[in-house]
Amino acid sequence: MSTGADISVLGVAGSPRLKATHYAVNEALEYAAAKHGVAVDYFSLHGKDIGFCRHCDHCVRKRQGCIIDDDMGDLYPKLLAADAWILATPVYQGQVSGQLKAAMDRCRALVAADAHAFRDKVGAGLCVGGDRNGGQEPALLSLLGFFVINEMVPVGGGSFGANLGAALWSQDRGAAGVKADAEGLAASHRVVDRLVRMARLLRRARSVENAE
Ligand SMILES: Cc1cc2nc3c(=O)[nH]c(=O)nc-3n(C[C@H](O)[C@H](O)[C@H](O)COP(=O)(O)O)c2cc1C
Repeated sequence: MSTGADISVLGVAGSPRLKATHYAVNEALEYAAAKHGVAVDYFSLHGKDIGFCRHCDHCVRKRQGCIIDDDMGDLYPKLLAADAWILATPVYQGQVSGQLKAAMDRCRALVAADAHAFRDKVGAGLCVGGDRNGGQEPALLSLLGFFVINEMVPVGGGSFGANLGAALWSQDRGAAGVKADAEGLAASHRVVDRLVRMARLLRRARSVENAE
C-alpha cells in the first residue's frame, strides 16, 4: 500500500483470471490515486486458495478468527486496514463469482471476533459482465447487502449512469472489452468519486467523535 495519504482504498478482484475484472479494478484504483490522492491496495483472487466457510463455528466460539489456514490470511489484514473497499466481480449466472462469495463468507470469522470489525468502512461494487445486461445489477445488490450486513456504508455512483455501482461490459473480451466500454469506465470513476468522498466525510466525523 502506498503511504502518506489520508484515505486508503482496497480493490478486490473476484475473478479466477487476470483479465477483465483485474483490469477494471486497477483502472479504478489508478483513477482514485491520480484524481483523489488516496493510497491504494489491490488483491486478486486469481491463483488463490480460499476455501468455503465450513460453518464449524470455531470463529464464533473462540473469537480468534478462522480455523482454515489458506490465502484468506493475506486478505484479512488488507480488509481491516483499508478505509474503503471496491469489491469487484465477474458476473457469474447473474451473480457474484463463487470465488468472491467464498471470500465474503469467510469474513464472518473477523466479525465473530469483533462485531464492529468493518464498521463505517465504505463499500462499493464493480461488476463486469460478458453481456451488456448480464446481471450486473443483481450482483451489485448482493455486494451492497454484504456491506450493510457488516456495518459498512454502501455507496453507488449516483443516478443517471452509476446507480447501484459500476456495471461494466467486457463483451467476453477481457481487458480489451473493458477498455472499449467508455460508459462502464465513466460509471466506475463516478463510483470512486463517491467512495472517496464518503470515506473522507466519515474520517472527519470520526475525528469529531473521538474529540468529544
Ligand atoms: C461460470 C460463468 C458464468 C457467467 N455468467 C455470466 C452472466 O450471467 N452474465 C454475463 O454477462 N456474463 C457471464 N459470464 C461472462 C463473464 O462475466 C465475463 O466474461 C467477464 O468479463 C469475465 O471477467 P474476467 O475476465 O475478469 O474473468 C460468465 C462466465 C462464467 C465463466
